[in-house]
Amino acid sequence: MYKSIVKGSGYYVPEKIVTNDDLSKIMDTSDEWIVERTGIKERRWFNPDTDTNSNMATKASKMALEQAGMEARDIDFIVFATISPDYFFPGSGVLLERELGLAGIPALDIRNACSGFIYALSIADQYIKTGMYKNVLVVGSEIQSSGLDLSNEGRAVSVIFADGAGAMILQAGDESNENQKGLLSTHLHSDGNYAEELYVRDPGSSRKIRLSEEIIHGPSFKPHMNGRDVFKHAVVRFPEVINEALDSNNLSIEDIDLLIPHQANLRISEFVRRSLNLPEDKIFNNIRYYGNTTAASIPIAFKQAWNEGKIKDGDLVCLAAFGSGFTWASALIRM
Ligand SMILES: CC(C)(COP(=O)(O)OP(=O)(O)OC[C@H]1O[C@@H](n2cnc3c(N)ncnc32)[C@H](O)[C@@H]1OP(=O)(O)O)[C@@H](O)C(=O)NCCC(=O)NCCS
Repeated sequence: MYKSIVKGSGYYVPEKIVTNDDLSKIMDTSDEWIVERTGIKERRWFNPDTDTNSNMATKASKMALEQAGMEARDIDFIVFATISPDYFFPGSGVLLERELGLAGIPALDIRNACSGFIYALSIADQYIKTGMYKNVLVVGSEIQSSGLDLSNEGRAVSVIFADGAGAMILQAGDESNENQKGLLSTHLHSDGNYAEELYVRDPGSSRKIRLSEEIIHGPSFKPHMNGRDVFKHAVVRFPEVINEALDSNNLSIEDIDLLIPHQANLRISEFVRRSLNLPEDKIFNNIRYYGNTTAASIPIAFKQAWNEGKIKDGDLVCLAAFGSGFTWASALIRM
């Protein structure tokens, strides 16, 4: 059996900064309300003339390749997490494969929203462990801003979500490597009983006509979120799945050097940190500047933490996520 070693990571965020004050010019909201409830001060929105979901992913991937000291042609599998693909079908994985000039290699899309990146990591890990693939590119990329309801009705959701992309390269390494480096475990969960608590109904296929004027201008075409229910479940599931990861590796909370939670909401991250008794310097949050970028939030945060020297050789890094589905997941990585 092989072990997945993190060889590099990268991210890309669009240039356009949208502050809370900018939002308060288009809807009835305020910097104070948004900061207090979510911790977000600003976020990035894509430029429709230059940014696409897959070209943002390409930029993030190239940064990851550079850090890994690899060429695109070294990659033998792409796992792409997104709920905002360029096309209804095919998925964005094949578009990234095309942009990297990798025609012929497999590309798989994952649609597990905010937990999507950890699901993608877990899938990549299974292929690496069995020896089927050697270098896997795992990506999370989202353009949420084009799907938001910017009216007062949608304000609780639209102030949260944003655009960006992140990537990570996993490489097959010797399972018994000296420093025990690599992905130690992933734990994945879902509960579809809550599918409609955070979802976009349309353009769903289970309608006679997928798109009509009525649907486009109605509420079902925009994200719907039961914010309180999401909050309530998130603060339980995050600690639960982190403890599950620690238990299964005979580790304890003190062993974690850095927790990188999906950047859902700063209040959720703070709640989780306190309930785990984790010191402030052992959690990484960048939601203040980027909002919630769904599947992209963990790899963006991971790269930034690495750049800032908050991830060092030998560190134990814990990733955790919760989101639409509901889905939740964790991963433990020895760097
Ligand atoms: C979304 C969230 C911030 C809303 O906070 P809340 O305290 O639950 O707020 P409510 O929805 O009850 O609304 C409280 C009031 O603020 C108003 N409000 C909602 N959004 C607003 C905004 N952007 N600006 C100003 N006021 C807003 C509501 O209309 C309501 O007004 P009312 O009391 O006059 O009816 C909160 O529920 C939350 O953080 N949920 C988790 C969301 C999340 O993390 N999602 C990502 C999951 S991956």
